[in-house]
Formats: sequence, structure tokens, C-alpha cells
Amino acid sequence: MRSHYCGLLNEQHVGQEVVLCGWAHRRRDHGGVIFIDLRDREGIAQVVFDPDAEQSFALAETVRSEFVLKITGIVRLRPEGTSNAVMGTGRIEVLGKQLEILNASRTPPFMLDEHAEVGEDIRLRHRYIDLRRPEMADRLRFRSKVSNTIRNYLDENGFLDIETPILTRATPEGARDYLVPSRTHHGQFFALPQSPQLFKQILMVAGMDRYYQIAKCFRDEDLRADRQPEFTQIDIETSFMNEEQIMTITEEMIRQVFRKHLNVEFGTFPRMTFAEAMRRFGSDKPDLRIDMELVDIADLMKDVEFKVFHGPANDPASRVVALRVPEGGRLSRKEIDDYTKFVSIYGAKGLAWIKVNDLAAGIEGLQSPILKFMPEQVVHAVLARLGVQNGDLVFFGADKAKIVNESIGALRLKVGADMGMVKGDWAPLWVVDFPMFEEASDGSLTALHHPFTAPSCSVEEVQADPLKALSRAYDMVLNGTELGGGSIRINQPSMQQSVFKILGIGDEEAKEKFGFLLDALSYGAPPHGGLAFGLDRLIMLMTGASSIREVIAFPKTQSASCPLTDAPGLVSSKQLRELNIQVRQAAGEKSA
Ligand code: AMO
Ligand code: AMP
Repeated sequence: MRSHYCGLLNEQHVGQEVVLCGWAHRRRDHGGVIFIDLRDREGIAQVVFDPDAEQSFALAETVRSEFVLKITGIVRLRPEGTSNAVMGTGRIEVLGKQLEILNASRTPPFMLDEHAEVGEDIRLRHRYIDLRRPEMADRLRFRSKVSNTIRNYLDENGFLDIETPILTRATPEGARDYLVPSRTHHGQFFALPQSPQLFKQILMVAGMDRYYQIAKCFRDEDLRADRQPEFTQIDIETSFMNEEQIMTITEEMIRQVFRKHLNVEFGTFPRMTFAEAMRRFGSDKPDLRIDMELVDIADLMKDVEFKVFHGPANDPASRVVALRVPEGGRLSRKEIDDYTKFVSIYGAKGLAWIKVNDLAAGIEGLQSPILKFMPEQVVHAVLARLGVQNGDLVFFGADKAKIVNESIGALRLKVGADMGMVKGDWAPLWVVDFPMFEEASDGSLTALHHPFTAPSCSVEEVQADPLKALSRAYDMVLNGTELGGGSIRINQPSMQQSVFKILGIGDEEAKEKFGFLLDALSYGAPPHGGLAFGLDRLIMLMTGASSIREVIAFPKTQSASCPLTDAPGLVSSKQLRELNIQVRQAAGEKSA
């Protein structure tokens, strides 16, 4: 139908007759002429109808927003002084000769440039309109191009694109499963994969050597800006490569993507151990663009009377830290109170602080609610360790290590963002040497990555002190977001069984749930490992979007539903009967 995309017209087309198809973005009547901004996937072109083209002019008067039009016309330069530098096609316009209305549109639920004023729910319900916005179309186009670069890179490096099942068994990645009832197997369920983890390992046992898949994963977990129940991984697995080689080949992939699509050159990614990341930043995904660190001061607080610090300073499971905020002295009491409220979300019971007004004036030059509780020399030792300067503010956190890490780690990010301390655009790194396990609140152990990750020590050492054991896992972190993670896997059935045991999965249960994996490992499983990147997160970071919902064509809401299709929905009683499923009345629900 069309000869050109609207958005791709430029001065080279001046004098040519073109046929354009698209949507009426805006129609303006201007003293006898009608302007229609015609929009398609590639952008917008201005079309002018003057009354000479009588029939088209009359028809143009009936055009409303979002009508679908076919327009034939001649490209010409815009008259002197009317070009639009913001528009890609701003120096030309099309003099409309013929107009055909291909389809009408009801009045749209929101005008494209007023999307910010409607709730996200409306945008998602009418996603076909929302996606017409050039910004959204640009992001989807960008995503498509990046996926393509990734596929090419992996293909060139000998990776095979292999699909793995969606209807499968549970693959534990730490979230709840989405279950699908089986009609043919009474009372039994498939689980949607939380990742293709087990299949990609089995593909290695099968000798595929290098596998990749841009794979959908499903996790029923609490949603946030960077989490969706259904999301996409760039999933990778290799045989006969060690962690160094896997990190090198995938780091180069990310470097290429940024070089090609953003013209950004990353150097070699720095590496940081998990322990160092937690100690300095309170997080295993530190945002290195912010130049502030947590500094341990428990050793200085062991003998102070101030209970808030004294207790944690003498408890090995706790931390006492200080965070120096350069120029933080300008924060008002109200702002400090707001930060105190902010850290309480993470369980912090308070947020002590010291303002450094005038170092030369000694203790008199400081302002703080806690000075009265602490000997002068302790205060000075703390300030000396932090290297404070006049005008700084120091925050303190004292509690169980988990609470301090989470609260002061989050405070560091928030203060850094609020005070404009985020420096540079990109800060990638690898975090390595993760512990194998972490302790849940009930004392049981869970896998920090997943149960198939190999330890970097012997079976005996893992068994002797599981919480001390480190794994051969690695995470790629970019600007404080975990972009990807992976590991060298266990390829010995005996090691796998020991790890299951430590996780409280007995032999019977292991056999029932993962017997197929244990079997596969016992038939010549090569040393293997891999990782998976979150494609949605990668695109979110690269496009500067505020949430992964902005880079997914049809995302779910915060409550894991789809306003467009109204999924999830009820099903007929016939379907339920076929599946042998009876829906229990939810608590508090009255029967009809
Ligand atoms: P992991 O669980 O760390 O590892 O996931 C890998 C990457 O996937 C992304 N991601 C998500 N993105 C959006 N929404 C979610 N709910 C979500 N959950 C995870 C993150 C994360 O870094 N099988 C292992 C990988 C491996 O060991 O090879 C796995 O799935 O960017
Ligand atoms: P309080 O004695 O509870 O009034 O606390 C004195 C100061 O210590 C206040 O500024 C509190 O915000 C702060 N504070 C209380 N608990 C903690 C904590 N766990 N970590 C850091 N500061 C705290």
C-alpha cells in the first residue's frame, strides 16, 4: 500500500510523490488549510491539505485522532521559518493530493502525548494505543535490535539455540511455581519453568557443548520495578569451560551490545567478592557510581555505654557502620527524619547522625543526638576513620548485619540519588565468591544461587561448615541492578546429593523431584557451567526506562494480572471438571 514510512521522509524526497499509511496523530485547521500529522512506526510526517484538492479537503475535515489513513501527496520543503528542529521530518511536509480513510477510531481513552496523566492501568488496558507512542515503539525496536546482536554474537561463538519445554517440572530458583493442571493425569500438575536450568544442564550431558536460548521464565513472586512474573532470560550454558572463560565470553557479549547500540565502550569489568561488596556497600549488587561506603566501627564501640551501639558492637552477627555523606550538613532536620522513616522500612530501629560543622572547634563543632552518649575520644576516632570534612554528615546503623546491610545499603543509594552523587553513566562489575548457602529466619539453609551450583571446596568441607562454603557462582551487576548470574554446576551425583541433604531435601524427595537430573549426572556429565541475563533488565537500563514494564510489550501489573485480556480469569465448570479440580471458597467469601 505504502511507498515510504512517514518517519523516514527527508529532504531527499522533495519533489517525489509518496504514498503514506498511518494514524492521524493530530489534525489542525489553520486558516483554510488542514494539517494532519500522520504517524507510523518510524515517526511522524506533516501532511497539508489545501482547499484546491476539494474532495480530499472535505474528507480531511472529518478525520479524527487515531483514524487510519492512506495519503498520496508530494514531498516539499516547509516554507521558510516553519521548519521544526525537534521532528525528524521537520524540514519537509507532504502536500496531500488523495486521502483515503482506511478505518475510523473511537475517541481514544487517552491522547498519546497525555499518557503521563492516565494511570498505568489504562495504558495497559489499551496497550495497542500505548504502544503507538513513539517512545514505546522505539524501545521495542531497540529491544529487537539488541536481541538480534546477542543472537548473532552467540551464534558466531558456536552456541546452538535450543528450545526447552514450558510444560515441565518445578525448577527451583527461589520463587513460587506457576502450576498447570494435567487433564490426562488425574491430580497431577506441570510447573512452568522458573528458568531452563535443568534442561540446559541436561543438554550439556547430551554433548551440545554450547547452548543458548532467549527464554521465557515464570516466577510467582512479589513484583517490583525490575521483576515480572513472566520475563525473558538470555540463557547460556557451556561445557568444558571454567568460570574465567564463561565470564570472559559473556562480558564481551555485553561489551559488544553497548558498543553497537549505545556507542559506549566498557573496559574490563572489575571483580569484587561478595564479602567485600556486602562490607563496603551492604549489597551484593553495588551501584559503584555512588562514591559513599559503609565503614565498620564496631571495634570503636565495644565499650561505649550507648546501648544502641554497645549491643551490636559485641555481637558477631551484628554490625555497627557509619556512612559519611559529603556535604550532608545541608540536610534539614525534616530530611533526616524522612531518611529515618525510610530506613525503618528495612527494619532499622533508628538512624543516628552527626553533623560536622567545624572540626577545628572539637566536640563543640559537632551537632548530633548521640554525642551525649559517647566519650569524646570515641567520636574523634570515628570521625578520623571516616576522614570527615567540615560540612559533612555521618549516618550510623547498628543492628543485626542483615538489617544494617539492607537499611544503610538502601540509604546509600537514596541519599546518593537525592544529593546528585551518581557519577558517570555506567558502572558494570562482576561479583564473585558467593557463599553456597544462607540461613533463613527459621535456621534452615537455602541456596544463595540455586541448588545446582558447585562449591569451590570439597564435599567434606561443605558438609563440615556449610555456611562457610563458597560457591563457583558469579553475578554481573550494572548500576546497582543484577543483570545476570550463573555458576559452574555440580556434575557429580554424590556432590549433588550432599547439597540436597544440606538444604533439607532428603533422598526420597530428591529422587522424586530431581531423579532425572541425578540420573543424567551419572551418565557421563561433563564439567559445565553457564549463566542467564535478564533481557528485560538489560533493555530497561540501556533505554533509561524506569521499569521493565516499559520495555515489555504486554507486561503484567504489580498484582500479576493483565488488564488488556483480564487474565487471570475464571474458567467454566466443565473445564474444571475435566481437570478434576474443585475451587474452594476463599476465606471470607460468601456463597451465592
Ligand atoms: P537468576 O534467578 O539469577 O538465575 O536469574 C537470572 C537473571 O534473570 C533476571 N531475572 C528477572 N527479570 C525480571 N523479572 C524477574 N522476576 C526476574 N528474575 C530474574 C535477572 C537475573 O540476573 N538458572 C539461573 C541462571 C544460571 O545459573 O545459569 C537463573 O535463573 O536479571
Ligand atoms: P534513642 O536512644 O533510641 O532515642 O536513640 C538515639 C539516637 O540513635 C536516635 O538518633 C536514633 O535515631 C538512633 N538510633 C536508635 N536505634 C538505632 C540503630 N539501631 N541504628 C542506628 N541509630 C539508631
